[in-house]
Amino acid sequence: MSAFDSESKHTRPYEPTAARVRGFGATVFAEFTALANATGAVNLGQGFPNFAAPDFVKEAARNAIAADLNQYARSAGHPHLVEALSQTYSPLFGRTLDPLRQILVTVGATEGIFATIQALVNPGDEVLLIEPFYDSYPAAVLMAGGHPVYVPLRHHPAQTASAACWQLDLDELAAALSPRTRLLILNTPSNPLGKVFTRAELLAIADLACTHNLTVLSDEVYEWMVYAPAEHIRIATLPGMWERTVTLGSAGKTFSVTGWKIGWAIAPDHLIHPIVMAHQWIPFSVSTPLQEAVAVALDETPARGYFSWLSEMYRTKRDRLLDVLDQAGLSPMVPDGSYFIMVDTHPLEVPVAPGERRDLAVCRWLTREVGVAAIPPSPFYSPPHQQLADHLARFTFCKSDDLLDEAARRLSRLHTFR
Ligand SMILES: Cc1ncc(COP(=O)(O)O)c(C=O)c1O
Repeated sequence: MSAFDSESKHTRPYEPTAARVRGFGATVFAEFTALANATGAVNLGQGFPNFAAPDFVKEAARNAIAADLNQYARSAGHPHLVEALSQTYSPLFGRTLDPLRQILVTVGATEGIFATIQALVNPGDEVLLIEPFYDSYPAAVLMAGGHPVYVPLRHHPAQTASAACWQLDLDELAAALSPRTRLLILNTPSNPLGKVFTRAELLAIADLACTHNLTVLSDEVYEWMVYAPAEHIRIATLPGMWERTVTLGSAGKTFSVTGWKIGWAIAPDHLIHPIVMAHQWIPFSVSTPLQEAVAVALDETPARGYFSWLSEMYRTKRDRLLDVLDQAGLSPMVPDGSYFIMVDTHPLEVPVAPGERRDLAVCRWLTREVGVAAIPPSPFYSPPHQQLADHLARFTFCKSDDLLDEAARRLSRLHTFR
């Protein structure tokens, strides 16, 4: 007799899934990448570069494999990589970062988010999430037994549609605080909007964090994709904030190698230590040869002028896709950072099935009928606020020029649907 048999002697119904994951469905990226593949659509949905990684980065990985760096790395990070991160970030943080006590290497920024929340959030603690949020934040908070509390950015239309039109209402943020609020998650430049928080906004968040004794988890994985005159400001560098901020970065974004899954967390000793304690029981350690490759790549970035090259390369792609979307009549909102563009889909008359969210209907229709996949942004909102995404769709420009050209050809047909 098996455990699944209705005649089983067990009286308790068989329910193998833990409650903490029962509400999780497949991510929106899984659905739209599968749909794009099935329909042959150009995938401007999921944010992964479809072009080759830089040669010097791949060369570093080949060398690390050839050198037989095959065994477990130091749990908190391969010594060469934490040293390279300290060299890269110390000037940007305006302090000497201790490579062995203030830097942790993670399995992508995703594990940095998970390990930080596991280490800093108690069951019942509240975590402030700014909407639209990167979709792993609420899942990580829920798995720690925390309660996400959502504060949506408000759209203030302006003459030039831009990501900067999305602003944090500080009164709303203050009203969301409670004695149980423990952590605030910030994402700048942001996914999906491409908003770069201004100094004034960050100072206001910092003031709130200091007054209410909050820790800030600052997800800065798009730090090198910032388009002047916008400026990337690290909240950890603002007065009083180093002591209460964990900053995350990602080699996947920085070197166009999202599949390598190498990320890092930078924070003062008293915050890194508990995160390292959680991390040692999550992945224990991170791929040794790929850590070595990222270390070598970081060492070489200054001589190669790599970071300026990267932001220039993405600025050109951004401007190209902005033109395409504009000509298709989709009113793109100019992003100041990241590799995403949000568009206003009001002009599209698309059939919406009963019970279907409009943004999902529009993106499914764009994928199937127009042959270009975009991501519907409602999964970046909590259910009560999802209607804020009804007329939005997110496109990415981290794609090769020929793919962007093909998308342009297909999107030019949009006029015939109106
Ligand atoms: C805001 C944000 N944070 C974190 C991540 C995940 O980074 P990684 O691939 O390094 O895990 C992403 C990836 O899309 C992201 O957009």
